[in-house]
Amino acid sequence: MQFWKYSTSVLATLLAVVSVSQAGGPTDGEAAADPNSAVVKLTSENFASFLEENPLVLTEFFAPWCGYCKILGPEFSKAADTLNESHPNIKLAQVDCTADEAICMEHEIKGYPTLKIVRDGDSKKAEDYQGPREHQGIVDYMIKQSLPAVQAPTSWEDLEKVIDEQTKPFVLQVNSAADEIFKKVANLKRKDFSFINVDKEFLKSLGTKLGQDLKKAQFLVVHPKQLTDAVLFDGKADVEKLSEWIDIETIPYFGDMDRDTYMSYMTSPLPIAYYFYKTPEQREAVAEAMGKLGRKYRSKLNIVGLDANLFGRHAEAINMNPEIVPLFAIQHIADNKKYGVNQTEHPDGPSVEVIEQFIEDYFNDKLTPIIKSEPLPTAEEIAANPVVKLVAHNYKDILDNLEKDIFVKYYAPWCGHCKKLAPVWEELAEVFGSNKGASGVIIADIDHTSNDVDVPYEIQGYPTLLLFPANGELDERTGLRKPIVFEGARDLSTLIDFVKEKGSLNVDGNELKAKLEEEKESAVVEEEKEAEKEAEAKVEHDEL
Ligand SMILES: *[C@@H]1O[C@H](CO)[C@@H](O)[C@H](O)[C@H]1NC(C)=O
Ligand SMILES: *[C@@H]1O[C@H](CO)[C@@H](O)[C@H](O)[C@H]1NC(C)=O
Repeated sequence: MQFWKYSTSVLATLLAVVSVSQAGGPTDGEAAADPNSAVVKLTSENFASFLEENPLVLTEFFAPWCGYCKILGPEFSKAADTLNESHPNIKLAQVDCTADEAICMEHEIKGYPTLKIVRDGDSKKAEDYQGPREHQGIVDYMIKQSLPAVQAPTSWEDLEKVIDEQTKPFVLQVNSAADEIFKKVANLKRKDFSFINVDKEFLKSLGTKLGQDLKKAQFLVVHPKQLTDAVLFDGKADVEKLSEWIDIETIPYFGDMDRDTYMSYMTSPLPIAYYFYKTPEQREAVAEAMGKLGRKYRSKLNIVGLDANLFGRHAEAINMNPEIVPLFAIQHIADNKKYGVNQTEHPDGPSVEVIEQFIEDYFNDKLTPIIKSEPLPTAEEIAANPVVKLVAHNYKDILDNLEKDIFVKYYAPWCGHCKKLAPVWEELAEVFGSNKGASGVIIADIDHTSNDVDVPYEIQGYPTLLLFPANGELDERTGLRKPIVFEGARDLSTLIDFVKEKGSLNVDGNELKAKLEEEKESAVVEEEKEAEKEAEAKVEHDEL
C-alpha cells in the first residue's frame, strides 16, 4: 500500500512540475482574449448558467501574467471566431483565475493555462483538452469533439470492420436507436471507449459473430479477442448505472497492472489478486486460464499480472519474496490484509489448479493472512530494555491497554533521525519506568519496516511519534485509539512536557525524573561509602 501511495504522490509531483513549467516562458500577445472576439468571458456570475446553456464549451483557465497563456490568447480568439462562423454550437470561454479564484479552486486548477472541455454544463466532469494550441488545431479538435460519440455503421461490413479494429473493450447498444442515456454516457467516456449503435438489420449477423442470442440484449461490453464472452447489461439503465457497469465490465479479466492502470485497481473496492511473472512466457502460459478466472470472479476480485522485474518492491510490500516467481497473492486493500500461495511449497510458481483452489479458499474465509513480524521479545529482553518493544504479534495487545498513556516511536532502521533520537527515547522510557507494570505511561517503539501493523494515522516519514492517550476515542478503521501526533523538538524535556500535557493521566515526568536522580545520587553516596569501607579494609589488609 505504501508503495502505491508513494507512486501516486510521485505522479502528482510530476504533473505539478509539468504545469509549473508551462507557466512563465516566452511571451507574445495578451493572455485575455480580444474582447471583440467570440471568446466568452466567464465570471462567477455567469459561469454556471453559460455552461448549462451551451452543450459544448472549451474553457480556458488562465492568469494574465502567464507566458504560455499570452501565446495562446490570440490563437484562442481566432479559433473562437472561426468556430462562431462554422459551428456556432461550439463555444470557447475563458476564466481569469486571478479575478475569479473561487471557480479555479473549485475545479482544482493547478497550472496555467488549463483547458477543459465541458459538456452539458457538467463542469465537474470536464475532460482535459488534449489537442493542439494553435488556431486551426483547436478548431479541428473541437469539431471532432462535437461529432457524435456514438458510431452507427450503416452496413454489416462496416460494423464488422469497426468491431474487429477495436483494441480495447468497447460498448454496443442493440435493439434500439442510440437513446439519450447511451449518448450521454458515450460523451462522458468517449476518450476511453468506443460506443457503437447496432442497427436492427445487423442483429442476426452480430449474434452469430458473438455466439449469443441478442434478442433481449440492450447494452453489451465486448472484449477484443474474447468476442464470445460479451457481457450483457441487466435491468433498467440510467446514466449513473450504465457508467458504473461499463467501468466494471471493461476492466480486463486478466489485465496488467502498470503505471497507467494501477490507480483504477487501487481505488477499486475489490480485492486484487496478483500474478507476478518474470518473463512474457510465464505470463502467456497462464493468461487464458487467468482470463477465465477473472470472468468467473468479475465484480468480486480483480486479477492482474505484474512484471516482477519492474514491481518487485510491490511483492515485498505484500509480504512475498519477489525472487521466487511466478507467485500468486491476494491483497484486500480496505483492511490491508495479504494472502499468498506458500512460496516454499511452490518454488516454481503455483499451478492454475492451486491458484483456483486458493481463490476459492479466500472467498470461503479459509486462509490466514500473512503478517510480517519480528519475533516477540524474550523475558530477558523485556527486563533489560526500558523501551517497550512492539512487534506485529504483540502490537494490538499492548495498544489495547486503554488504562495507559502509550507513546510510540515508529521508526525505520536506516533512518538517521531515528538513531539520533534513540538514546533520548530510552532516557524517556527510564523516567517513566515504562517496562515496569506499575507505570501509567508506556514508552514504546516499533520497527515499522519489519512489522505489519495498522496505524490510525498516515505516516509520512520516520520517526513518527504518536501518543495514544488513556481511554482515548477509538478510530473506526483500526479499532485503536486516535493518536496525538508529537511535532515538537525531540529533546527529553519537551517530550516529558508533551506526555504531561497531552496524556490523559497527566503523569509528571519531571517529578519522576527528580526522584530518579535523587535515588541515583543516594545510590552513588552508598556506593562511595562502600568504596571507602573497602578501601579502608584494603589498607588494613595491606598493612598486614
Ligand atoms: C458570431 O456569429 C454571429 C452570427 O454569424 C455574428 O452575428 C456575431 O457577430 C459573431 N460574433 C463574433 C464575436 O464574431
Ligand atoms: C510454507 O510451507 C512450508 C513447508 O510446508 C512450511 O514450513 C511453512 O511454515 C509454510 N509457510 C507459511 C507462511 O505458512
